[in-house]
Amino acid sequence: MISVPEYVRSIKPYVPGKPIEELERELGIREAVKLASNENPLGPSRKAVEAMKEVLEGVNRYPDGGGYYLKQALSERLGVDMDEIILGNGSNELLDIAVRTFMTPQDEAVMGKPSFVVYPLAVQALGARGIEVPLKQWRHDLPSMAESITDRTKIVFIANPNNPTGTINLSDEFDEFMSKVPEGVLVVVDEAYYEYVQDARYPDTMKYFREGRDILILRTFSKIYGLAGLRIGYGIAKKELVTEMNKIREPFNINTLAQVAARAALEDEEHVKESVRVNEEGKSYLYKEFDRLGMEYLPTEANFIFVILKQDNAVEVYERLLKEGVIVRPMGQRYLRITIGLPEENRRLIEALEKVI
Ligand SMILES: Cc1ncc(COP(=O)(O)O)c(C=O)c1O
Repeated sequence: MISVPEYVRSIKPYVPGKPIEELERELGIREAVKLASNENPLGPSRKAVEAMKEVLEGVNRYPDGGGYYLKQALSERLGVDMDEIILGNGSNELLDIAVRTFMTPQDEAVMGKPSFVVYPLAVQALGARGIEVPLKQWRHDLPSMAESITDRTKIVFIANPNNPTGTINLSDEFDEFMSKVPEGVLVVVDEAYYEYVQDARYPDTMKYFREGRDILILRTFSKIYGLAGLRIGYGIAKKELVTEMNKIREPFNINTLAQVAARAALEDEEHVKESVRVNEEGKSYLYKEFDRLGMEYLPTEANFIFVILKQDNAVEVYERLLKEGVIVRPMGQRYLRITIGLPEENRRLIEALEKVI
C-alpha cells in the first residue's frame, strides 16, 4: 500500500453529532430529538427555501465560482469591499484554506483547549504543529496565548463564542491581545455564533480589520441562518489575504443552492430575530431546569450549553439519553454540550435527564 505520512495516520478523526435517522433506525423509534450539533431548531428561512426552488431546474450548470451576488449582498451588509470577502463550503473550509495558504509544515498555530476541534485537525493535516493553550476559567486565556506566539507561529485561532464552552472573550481583553500580536501572525477569529451573542462587551473585531491588521473574521450560515446542510460560510480579511486564499480555494466550492439560499436568508431579518428569541427563551428555561436538578453549567453566549457533570460519566449519560431518544454531545469524561432546541425539545431533554441522572 502507498505510505501515508505519520502526521496523517495519527489524526484522530472528527466525530460528528449522531444523525437523528441513525438513532431512530438503531432504536426503532420515531421523533428522536437532536441537540448535538448546534443547528437552528427552527429550520431555514422560508425565503431561503423558496429561493432554492426557483433555481432547482438550473443545477445542470456550474455555480458562479465567484459568488458574485452573495458577495455583493454581504459587502453591502458589512460595509466591506467584495474583494475583502471569501466564501467557503462552510466556515470549516475557510479554516482549512487559511492553514494551507499561510502555513508550511515547519510552522505553528496557537489555539485554545478545549476549542473547536477542527483547528488542530486542519493544522495536523498539513504536518504543522498546533500549540494548545488551556482555557482559563472556561475562557480563552488570551495573555497566555499571546505569550505562546514564537517566530514559528503563523496563525492564532480564537473561537468567540468558544465551542464547546459558549463563553466569550471581552472587548478590552481583545484589545490587549491584539496589541501583543506581532505583524506577520494571522489572527483567525471564528465568529460562528456571532448573531446569538447578547453581552454588550462582545468585541467588534471588524475594527481590527479596518485598521489593516492581519485578521480573518469567519462567520457562517450554518447556525442562526439554519443552512448547515448546504455548507456555506464566509470570511472577511484585507484584499491581499483574500487574493492568496482564493488561489487555494476550489473553483466551484459554493453550490448554486447555497448561494441563493444564503442571499435570501441574509435578508430575512424576521427569521434571525425569531431564532434569537427562541434561543433566549430556551436558554432561560434550561437554566431554570438545570438549577432545579442541581446541575452545573456555564452561562452561554451561543445556542448551546456546556454542562459540567458531578462524575466522570459523560459517555454513560450520553448513551442513556440516546435510549430516551435524545442526542446530546459528550465532551471528554465530565461534560456534555447541549444545543438549545425548541420548547418541546428542551422539555424532552429535561424529562430524559430526570430519568438518567
Ligand atoms: C466555532 C465553530 N466554528 C466553525 C464551525 C463550522 O461551521 P460551518 O463549517 O458549518 O460553517 C462550527 C460548527 O460547529 C463551530 O462551532
